[in-house]
Order: sequence, then structure tokens, then C-alpha cells
Amino acid sequence: MLSSTGSAGARVALPATPGAALSAAGELLLFILHWDGFKVFGLEDLAAIETLQVFDAVSSGDHLGMVVVTSGLHNQRLDETYFIQVHALVKPQLVLLWTSGPFNLPRVTIRVMPFPTQRLRRLRANESLRGLVRETHLHPGQFILPLFVCPGEGVRREIGSMPGNYQMSIDELVKECIEVESLGISGVILFGLPETKDEMATGAYDDHGIVQRAIRAIRAETSRLLIVTDVCNCEYTSHGHCGFVKDGDVDNDTTLQWLAKSALSHARAGADIVAPSDMMDGRVWAIRQALDANGYEKIPILSYAAKFASVFYGPFREAAESAPQFGDRRSYQMDPANGREAMREIELDLQEGADMIMIKPAMPYLDLICQARQRFDVPIAAYQVSGEYSMIMAAVQNGWLDHDRSMIESLTSITRAGAGIILTYFAKPAARLLA
Ligand code: PBG
Repeated sequence: MLSSTGSAGARVALPATPGAALSAAGELLLFILHWDGFKVFGLEDLAAIETLQVFDAVSSGDHLGMVVVTSGLHNQRLDETYFIQVHALVKPQLVLLWTSGPFNLPRVTIRVMPFPTQRLRRLRANESLRGLVRETHLHPGQFILPLFVCPGEGVRREIGSMPGNYQMSIDELVKECIEVESLGISGVILFGLPETKDEMATGAYDDHGIVQRAIRAIRAETSRLLIVTDVCNCEYTSHGHCGFVKDGDVDNDTTLQWLAKSALSHARAGADIVAPSDMMDGRVWAIRQALDANGYEKIPILSYAAKFASVFYGPFREAAESAPQFGDRRSYQMDPANGREAMREIELDLQEGADMIMIKPAMPYLDLICQARQRFDVPIAAYQVSGEYSMIMAAVQNGWLDHDRSMIESLTSITRAGAGIILTYFAKPAARLLA
């Protein structure tokens, strides 16, 4: 016998043998259906109900759930709530209450709630419990810090839109890298500000270029720190585009040669990982070929596989002095609207020989990090770009957001989405906080 310990409103007697087929009008029937969370049943659904299993609810102790019975005739809603008890919690089944009457077209709404048996707040009661059940953990080893290297000596110029980040001459950069290494951060990624720029981006693949010299200097003073290089031309071309400009657009295949030469010069200088960010088609293959042909088959390629034409690179272009002098980068970087195309970009880069892939920016593209994590069994990096950093820092400086918490929450969300590696301007403060 079922008992109803319902809320306000008329109580409906529950039949002793629930589960029988549709009975006369006015009777209440009990059916067992699949556990589905939430469902609305109308008359027509009855035909679909086949098996009815009956519980003797009275002998029970377990609280299965709450059933809300709604009758919706004459604009009149008769809502009643019953707490149904069954002798065992038999998932995946639930109890359906059916009500009908001479003037009532029956509508039954079923809600099965694990409450109050299940209370998720139990595991949130204190930090020890929260720590025990925490699913995502950050550690300094997953961070790569972007650094900007400029000519001169003793130069350490703060980037206005990116507080705490600097353009540094090589001597300062080396000091910075020693500190970065001591914090347990895995690596740095280098961006160069050359003395001069030209149409052919010669500074990008010059063995004595600013980045190449920086690599040698860092290499000499650090041991474990990974030196990653950004392989691109935009910092080295007079027009600020990422390659050779022909007829007003970047010429793909000529640019591949520059990229291959740059990556090779980075490897020769001692880079541990090369990371092409230009978004030319075929660049991973071109770089792999050049490295292998010169004995650098052990140097991995971290491809900026899904890099979007994003407004969030704004502060970086100030930092790297690499804003395009005309037009924009939409003929080579991806349209922010395209997620499926991002998966194709990743797939192609892997086929060309990428060892790791990157999604950039990070927070506006968490869905794609998550999709990529499910589809590709390779290490996935995400770049929390300059604009993401600047937004948070601007809010922090206005007193609108807490620095540490926004930093950690943003990095946690990127990790939770599926990125194991994060390129972030927060690497140092985050590593300190996590220490
Ligand atoms: C070079 C490059 C850019 C960034 C990384 N590599 C700029 C761009 O594509 O315009 C942006 C990084 C950031 O915003 O932090 N192509």
C-alpha cells in the first residue's frame, strides 16, 4: 500500500495495487517507468507504457522521490505533491502517478528527486573535504610564460596594458628566466622586437637575430627551463603581417620558406620546442622537413593549430610592436565563429607532424579545448592571451575583481576544459601562489 504524505490540496487515495492498467476515471494509478529525471506525461503516453512493476511502498524505508501531480483543466491547476516511498531504491525506475477524473483531462508531471538522500553540499562543508574531492589541480609545471625580448642593455620596460610584464633586453631576460625556472615553471616562449624590420622579415631567421641571441644567453644560464620559440614573421616585417605580402595578401608558400628557416635557426640556437603561430597552410610540414633535414628530428613542434583572428591579441601587439600596418589577419587566422574548422586545423597539423597542438585564445574558446581533448590524444596547450590577461588586470586595478582568485579561476577553467599546458602571463604569480 502506498501512502501519500502530500502537501496542500486534496489528498488522493493511492490504490493498494499500483501498477494495474488504466482504471476507471477518477482513479489514481501507479506505474513504474524508467528513471529519466524529469518527464511530463499526457494521456497519449499511457499507450506507450508497457511493463508495470509494482512496489509495496509501505514496507519501505527508502525515499525515492517526490511526485508532482498536475491537472490542467479549465485553467485550473491542481498541483499536488506526494512523497513516494518504495521498499528499495531501484534505479533506473521511477514512480508515475496518474490522475484522471470525469472532467479532468489528466496531466501528470513527474519529478524524481534524490533529495533529501543526496545532498551535494555535504562535500563542500570545509576546505579539507573540498580538497579531497577537487577534480582539477593546477601546478607550475603546466605553465609557459611569454616573454618579450628587445635590443639594448639593462632595459626592463613595463607594458602599459599588461602590468607585471616587460619588454626586456637580453641581460634582463636571462635574470627573469633564472627566476622563472626557480619557480618550477616549465618554460618560456620568446617574442622578439628586432632592431629593424623589413619586407622580407630577415630578422626572423637571422642566426644573430634578437631571439636567437636570447636563446643562447638563456641556455647558458638555465638548465631545466624549456625554451619555446614563437615561429612567426609579424614582429619582423615592416608591414606587420605574418609573411610575404603579394598583391595585398600574405603569400602562403613563400612564407613557408621563411618559417622553416626561422624554426631551424631557433633550433640551432638551442630552442627546445618550436611553436609556429602564423596560420599558413602546410607550415608544420615545412618546419618538420627543415628540422629533420638538418639533424633536429628530436625538436618537437607545438603548433598553434586553432588560432583565431581575435580582438584579444590587442595588448600583445603593443607589447611586440607587431600590429599590421594595413588590413587585418582574417585571411589567415581563423574566423571566431568556426568550431568544426578548428578541429580540421588540428587534424591537419597532426597529419603534418605536430607533436602538440594549441588553441588560442583560451577562455573564449573553452568549448573547442574540450572538443579537442575528446578527439585527439595529443598534449593540448591553450594560450591565455594578452587581452584575457589585460581584462582581468584592468578589473583588478579598479578594485572590481580579486587578483588571485580571478587568476586561479581562469587558469582552472582552462585546465578543466582539457588543456594540460597553459601559456599565460600569470605564470609567475600563479606559480608563487601554488608553491
Ligand atoms: C604572432 C603572435 C601573436 C600572438 C602570439 N603570437 C599576435 C598575433 O597573431 O597577432 C598573440 C599573443 C597574445 O595576445 O598574448 N603571430
